[in-house]
Amino acid sequence: MTVLKIGIVGCGEVVQIMHLPALRQLADKFSVSALCDVSPTVVEGVGEEFGISARYADYRELVADGDVDAVLIANPNAYHAPVTLAAIAAGKHVLVEKPMCMTLAEADAIIAAEAAARGIVVQVGYMRRYAQAFLKACEVLPTLGPVRLARVHDVIGLNSLVVAATSRVVRGRDVPAEAVEEGKRLASEAMNAALGDASRELRMAYNILLGLSSHDLSAMRELIGVPKRVLHAAQRVGGFYMTAAFDYGDFVCQFETGVDAIPRFDAHIEVYGAERSLRVDYDTPYVRNMPVRLEVTEANGAGGVLTRTEHPAWGDSFTAEWLAFHDNVVSGKKPKTSPSDFRKDLEIFAEMVELMR
Ligand SMILES: NC(=O)c1ccc[n+]([C@@H]2O[C@H](COP(=O)([O-])OP(=O)(O)OC[C@H]3O[C@@H](n4cnc5c(N)ncnc54)[C@H](O)[C@@H]3O)[C@@H](O)[C@H]2O)c1
Repeated sequence: MTVLKIGIVGCGEVVQIMHLPALRQLADKFSVSALCDVSPTVVEGVGEEFGISARYADYRELVADGDVDAVLIANPNAYHAPVTLAAIAAGKHVLVEKPMCMTLAEADAIIAAEAAARGIVVQVGYMRRYAQAFLKACEVLPTLGPVRLARVHDVIGLNSLVVAATSRVVRGRDVPAEAVEEGKRLASEAMNAALGDASRELRMAYNILLGLSSHDLSAMRELIGVPKRVLHAAQRVGGFYMTAAFDYGDFVCQFETGVDAIPRFDAHIEVYGAERSLRVDYDTPYVRNMPVRLEVTEANGAGGVLTRTEHPAWGDSFTAEWLAFHDNVVSGKKPKTSPSDFRKDLEIFAEMVELMR
């Protein structure tokens, strides 16, 4: 069994709560050999806790480390493209947290670099698409009969409401001023390149699209395909709430999302066919191993209704995504959550942005 040596760029919340525990669970397939964070408190604290001695402040040093086979990129969104390109250039495989990047030009640069590198795996961290219940839903979909309606719903409370009560996260107030400035500059440049002249509300809506909605819409694409066009898209409440309607020709998929102060996670995809309907329900990823559930409803043949709810297997979606990454690297397979797959989400976002303007 090949043990892949992982270097991690950005060691904040998602790495401490989800990725490092998943990698520790899969110790027969992964070892974490290096960490990078611009906060000395974070890189030292996480390094001590997980016994990782190679610690860097600059991602360029981590990707050049000969003891790293693959890089997990989990620093702020604006760095995802530059770090991905640097890792590919250094010959490292990449698992990049969503969003893979913020602009179409960045996506094209990554797609070109990946193609030129040959044999380098670049996988986007859409863990919801590796959940057992979601894979089962993809299998069940053809049995629904013609699809007549679909809905993608994601209304959640602020993650901090769950995290504060369930995890201890090492955070740093010691990020050097230059690093803070650089992060702000890169984010604002990428936002300008993506949106041009845009209101504060539209910028917030785009941030939500890149953050939470990218999970929803990429899972929608895998389950029911790419929509022909966006019929409607609107944002409200400063960009924190959005609705949209996607035209699939024979049916329409409704989308709705928002973030409030109720500490619950109501994220589901529901597809209504002529014969059956199915629904995949996700819970917060910040509490590990919460079951992702598949529900199938149909006529029971005796005048009533039969609903089956399934939680096909235990296991966290992040663990499943890492298992797929290992298999992709070892077998030289292209991930289903590839850079060109991610680009389709940016294309949908661009259409939504034009309608929201
Ligand atoms: N897949 C998911 O469900 C999921 C969940 C949460 C976050 N994420 C993604 O993971 C990424 C990180 O999110 P988070 O919630 O952990 O954020 P966070 O703010 O908790 O952590 C980010 C870390 O990156 C560090 N950092 C900032 N600039 C850096 C640089 N230039 N080089 C190295 N380190 C740097 C910060 O000091 C911080 O420790 C985001 O892109 C986010 O979209 C994905």
